Amino acid sequence: MLYSHVLDSETKRLHSGLEVDILKFEAIKALTPLRDIRAFAYAAPSLEEHQFAHPTIAGLWKLYDSLAPDFKWAFREYEVAERRRFTQRPVYVATADTVVGGLWIDAVRQTKHGPHASIHLFVDPHHSKKGIASALLDAFEAGVARRYAGIFCSWGKRDDARTALFFSKQGYTVEPGQNNSGSAVKLLSRPVLQNIPDSFQKAYKECSPLSSRA
Ligand SMILES: CC(C)(COP(=O)(O)OP(=O)(O)OC[C@H]1O[C@@H](n2cnc3c(N)ncnc32)[C@H](O)[C@@H]1OP(=O)(O)O)[C@@H](O)C(=O)NCCC(=O)NCCS
Repeated sequence: MLYSHVLDSETKRLHSGLEVDILKFEAIKALTPLRDIRAFAYAAPSLEEHQFAHPTIAGLWKLYDSLAPDFKWAFREYEVAERRRFTQRPVYVATADTVVGGLWIDAVRQTKHGPHASIHLFVDPHHSKKGIASALLDAFEAGVARRYAGIFCSWGKRDDARTALFFSKQGYTVEPGQNNSGSAVKLLSRPVLQNIPDSFQKAYKECSPLSSRA
């Protein structure tokens, strides 16, 4: 069984009138034995949903699965690696009765500007253009502004240019690829925790609510 719990939550009314709860969950690896994480990484699809102790995380994974093959990896071995990464860091979920969107940090990349969070962000197509992805990204950026120097996201082929439009509207620099694929990056302007001398980091962490966990 994969365990997680809510670390933080806020309710937002979006421009569309929809009210969403943005929930931040603890990284699954913090509470789950390694053998269960491995079982999830290699699980048969029918078992996946029942492996999550928290119904909201189960709902998030179900939504992510339903977006395949448009969004997920084409190769099994990549998917196994991605499932492992899903368990390694905190996960953000938007709910409005049911799960309507999610965001998680896939990896942290070192760049000349400092560490960048590489993210996955997706919204239930039945709820698109209601402001859900914007609300998730706002909550995430506010929460990690002192931890990462920037945020990065890339995507594969798409039928339309909405992902690129979305990120450029959020103030990201978009690098378009072929067939509406692309990537987007944003430098965060606030100070980065890693640039603070070691001797100050502990005190800095203790006095700053934003610098707790990514
Ligand atoms: C890209 C995505 C996350 C946007 O989610 P969303 O909740 O619909 O986005 P928002 O409602 O916050 O939209 C903000 C802006 O994005 C753009 N946008 C979103 N949906 C759009 C659509 N269907 N057509 C055109 N533009 C769109 C618009 O500029 C919109 O601003 P507006 O409402 O003022 O016109 C969503 O379409 C999605 O899940 N796509 C598939 C997964 C993906 O590509 N994720 C990103 C890579 S990891």
